[in-house]
Amino acid sequence: MQQDWWKEAVVYQVYWRSFLDSDGDGYGDLEGVIKKLDYIKYLGIDVIWLNPCYESPDIDNGYDISSYQEIMDKAGTMEVFNRLLEEVHKRDMKLIMDLVVNHTSDQHYWFQESRKSTDNPYRDYYIWKPGRNGREPNNWRSYFTPSTWEYDEKTNEYYFHSFAVEQPDLNWENPAVRREIYQMMRYWLDKGIDGFRMDVINLLAKIPGFPDAEKPEDISYLGNNPGIHDYLQEMHEEVLKDYDIFTVGEIPFVTPEDGLLYVGEDRKELNTLFHFEVLDDMKSWDLLQFKSIQKRWYEGLWKRGWNSQFLNNHDHTRLVTRFGNDKEYRQQSATCFATLIHTLPGIPYVFQGEEIGMTGVRFNSIDEYNDIAMINEYKERVANGEDSNSVFEELVPFSRDNSRTPMQWNDEKNAGFTSGQPWIQVNPNYHEINVKKALDDPDSIFYYYQNLIEMRKRHSVMTYGEYHPILEDHPTIYAYYRVDENEKWFILLNLSEEDTSFSFTENKVFVKQLVIHNYPVKQDSANSIRLRPYEARVYTI
Ligand code: GLC
Repeated sequence: MQQDWWKEAVVYQVYWRSFLDSDGDGYGDLEGVIKKLDYIKYLGIDVIWLNPCYESPDIDNGYDISSYQEIMDKAGTMEVFNRLLEEVHKRDMKLIMDLVVNHTSDQHYWFQESRKSTDNPYRDYYIWKPGRNGREPNNWRSYFTPSTWEYDEKTNEYYFHSFAVEQPDLNWENPAVRREIYQMMRYWLDKGIDGFRMDVINLLAKIPGFPDAEKPEDISYLGNNPGIHDYLQEMHEEVLKDYDIFTVGEIPFVTPEDGLLYVGEDRKELNTLFHFEVLDDMKSWDLLQFKSIQKRWYEGLWKRGWNSQFLNNHDHTRLVTRFGNDKEYRQQSATCFATLIHTLPGIPYVFQGEEIGMTGVRFNSIDEYNDIAMINEYKERVANGEDSNSVFEELVPFSRDNSRTPMQWNDEKNAGFTSGQPWIQVNPNYHEINVKKALDDPDSIFYYYQNLIEMRKRHSVMTYGEYHPILEDHPTIYAYYRVDENEKWFILLNLSEEDTSFSFTENKVFVKQLVIHNYPVKQDSANSIRLRPYEARVYTI
């Protein structure tokens, strides 16, 4: 298999607005990121993914861009950005930016022009349609609202939006739009950034003719439509191929078969992808389902394309809270899931704070939440007559704010995140869970991650080796080998809160040395062992 720097990378996601505030305005900023680069480096990270920091009215936390080549005031200035990039490179790390080109903000100049008249030169930068019998052009739902269409009085037509009303979708059929986007991408790449995380990149192409959906609630019709691969291949030809960069597409609604069309090495589209068979389709932890997802993706991509491994991000509740146990077994479940992510085939991603086992949060009422997805859904369901308390309770565990609370640096005011008023409440558990404490404790989750990452660097089998699972029907044990021509490793995980026994002899596993473990182990030569709750062990064979 071809070796590439990005296949060997470990990526750290910086949600800058919640990372570190350097000027006391309550928002994290790029200067704050610069201050903590040594910390990120110390963890062992190679690539930083920075969430959008472009000019934006911030309806959807920066995913509504009003100017692609300017930096949002809250984040800083272009001067600070340039310095950030330089400082990242000085430390021998790389920086990738979020590329949000399915939609812009409604405040973007293009849209402001587009909505002025039907013959405005920018009209076709967006998707406009007349209504149907005085209503929306079709019955599609958007991610955040009951319809993908918003009526605009000025020209008596509807425009299309896959997300919030303030996020109109660009019309990728228009070659002028594509040219503008490619030029903008070149601007950032010429500055020296090392690639892009491409926001909902499989949504660019829409179903021709916009026919009604049979099941409007299943919004998978928004993605993977005819023309998408032409756009991505064109993007590759016009931009990507000229740079030594890393691209990861955010690609909801894909199976491994479709996924390969985006990341197949012969396809000339993207390097890797985030699929959402785990975070979107598996509401709570289900090991058998997880194993089958891993197996299908491994078989689908092996030797042909590259996968990604992640269990949380800025859109999904933190992994210890959602999949592990953030109380009794916080340490154990955090480290057990970390072992999983860093030993499965694919690029591992760490979402800021994951490395110290930060947890989800619960605010008291809907007014304390900021997440537009949650707020809109709450309003819609309550307006439709559902009980407000039960809707609230149902939404709390999945609110995107669960992962967006400020980074917990220490046990001082606001967890050391800001000297001002934080834009979103700090998780009250910061006295217990914070970076300072983690760095002072040699047994902390932080050092466990550091160790895993270091091990990965030293043993290329973790990157390029084959994956061979055993005990595939076991409901609580996840066990697999990683193998290449030089080495063989064995990973043994108890992904449950119960003790489980495992027999080396019965399973014909002949281990040599225990290399990583998240519980004290007295003697590991026994034929049969009891794995404690969320126990993780990595052996050489
Ligand atoms: C992606 C982002 C999410 C955003 C949406 C619209 O899913 O990760 O935060 O709301 O796209 O841009």
